[in-house]
Amino acid sequence: MGLATFVCKIVINVFMSGKEIIDLAPLQGFTDFVFRRCHHQVFGSIDTYYIPYLSVGKGKKIRNSQYRDVLPENNQGIPVVPQVLCANVDELRLLADELKQLNYPSVNLNLGCPYPMATKRGRGTGLLENDEMLRAVLDCLFSDYDFQVSVKFRSGLVDDQTIFKEMDTLAAYPFSQLIFHPRTAKQMYKGQANRDLFVRLSNEMNRPLVYNGDLVNAGDLDAIQQAVAGQHHWMIGRGVLINPLLVNQLKGEEFSDDQELNLKAQFHQLLLDNYREVLQDDGHVLLKMKQFWSYFSQSFENPAKVFKPIKKATKLARYMEIYPSILSM
Ligand SMILES: Cc1cc2nc3c(=O)[nH]c(=O)nc-3n(C[C@H](O)[C@H](O)[C@H](O)COP(=O)(O)O)c2cc1C
Repeated sequence: MGLATFVCKIVINVFMSGKEIIDLAPLQGFTDFVFRRCHHQVFGSIDTYYIPYLSVGKGKKIRNSQYRDVLPENNQGIPVVPQVLCANVDELRLLADELKQLNYPSVNLNLGCPYPMATKRGRGTGLLENDEMLRAVLDCLFSDYDFQVSVKFRSGLVDDQTIFKEMDTLAAYPFSQLIFHPRTAKQMYKGQANRDLFVRLSNEMNRPLVYNGDLVNAGDLDAIQQAVAGQHHWMIGRGVLINPLLVNQLKGEEFSDDQELNLKAQFHQLLLDNYREVLQDDGHVLLKMKQFWSYFSQSFENPAKVFKPIKKATKLARYMEIYPSILSM
């Protein structure tokens, strides 16, 4: 065992005494129902899987792919919370009515989407910046529905002080969880999430927040716990795409290298089989597997070498020849 691994294990044992709550971040295009189902079956470690956003598309309709992702029959036995991305009360009602019809007890409001296509329409971080509209949406959500409501937000569009102006608005509603990803929309996913900003907001709001952003090992959790007493609720996205065992490890499970590779192989096989069943078209399956490996390859010793032949594959048949050697002992 290398020194880094040894230190990491001590940190895990001392600080992760089984009380961590760790949720999966919604990642549109990646953490779809097939991914969630397979992950839950193989690892069973995530407390809540947040479903990527539902939004109002052309003709005031929800896109088929988004709708299929929230259908209860595709999420059976999995602890999921759906998310809505809306610009105003009309859009909220359309999405919330649909989720009510599907009998969901909880919903998450997206105030963090950074893409200009969304923010320019007043959605995501765009809604966070529009206090009057935000209050109207929240009034409707809390008074006309009986959902348990959580919210996921960034620090602002361009100015990371925006959140300190909006925190009184957020504090005025009984959210079940406040999930903070401390980046501005302008930053997209670049650079580092600003942990100091998270610490400051936790102190100023004087209530527990869920931390989200760039968590990849126990040291990351520890660093935040040192600054925010009692911080035990986390949301992780890309870290789980890279290393699907991450949450089990953060909760104190230990794996040998062989066990780790074995679990990764099991997960990959289940994912591939499920995508082949659900998507039917080989081209789509190949695309999904390429997307998956764009992160998953980063958990191997030489990510570029692992990903290159997969990226180059033009047929699923070629992919079927490539992956076994990567995932065998
Ligand atoms: C490809 C991609 C898709 C995403 N889709 C969503 C989404 O549907 N809803 C949402 O609230 N955040 C979405 N996010 C943001 C993530 O949920 C998360 O906040 C962000 O990746 C930071 O966490 P991480 O560093 O643990 O990945 C997305 C991020 C990426 C990279």
